[in-house]
Amino acid sequence: MASIKTERLLLRPASINDVADLHDIFSNPDAMAFWSTPPHVSLAETEAWVATTMSIDPREGEDFVVECCGQVIGKVGLYQFPEIGFILNPNSWGRGYAREALTALIDRAFLVHRLPSIDADVDPRNEASLGLLQRLGFQVVGHALRTWNVEGVWCDSVYLRLMRPDSKVS
Ligand SMILES: CC(C)(COP(=O)(O)OP(=O)(O)OC[C@H]1O[C@@H](n2cnc3c(N)ncnc32)[C@H](O)[C@@H]1OP(=O)(O)O)[C@@H](O)C(=O)NCCC(=O)NCCS
Repeated sequence: MASIKTERLLLRPASINDVADLHDIFSNPDAMAFWSTPPHVSLAETEAWVATTMSIDPREGEDFVVECCGQVIGKVGLYQFPEIGFILNPNSWGRGYAREALTALIDRAFLVHRLPSIDADVDPRNEASLGLLQRLGFQVVGHALRTWNVEGVWCDSVYLRLMRPDSKVS
């Protein structure tokens, strides 16, 4: 799997050495407020997440950790084509890092993988993610109620899609 360099970031495959940095993120209640699973409680949960990410079949998806100045600050990816997923450490929010990382990810998805479109499934309360995706050109294509049950609480979904500029698939 390739790595991607942007102006400030390195997007690269995860390794087992990233568990501690990723655990800081996946155990953070603010970062996980609208995630499809509860915050990680143990390092073992994050180790399992890293193992799953590392075992993604490259024909089916790809996930990158996001490194800034040698520190892992998050992850972005298409863990299962064409579904996008992303999370950054709250101490890195608001500096344009997510937009920079996702712009590179989307370019690769369209130019290298030739995906006709990219999909996102976002909790309607997740204003930061909705703002980010719409800023990147994603459009809302649907809504659904009670799609995810996280620790006994039902959450809803807003579905968004970004079409490849030269794609005719709807
Ligand atoms: C969503 C997330 C990745 C944004 O990260 P970020 O690095 O702060 O985002 P950026 O600084 O690159 O912001 C890019 C755009 O996102 C939007 N945005 C970011 N934070 C926002 C907020 N709190 N409210 C509304 N829009 C917001 C803005 O449109 C912004 O564009 P602008 O800078 O031109 O105003 C981060 O909040 C996060 O990790 N959230 C938790 C994980 C999550 O919910 N993932 C999605 C699951 S579907």
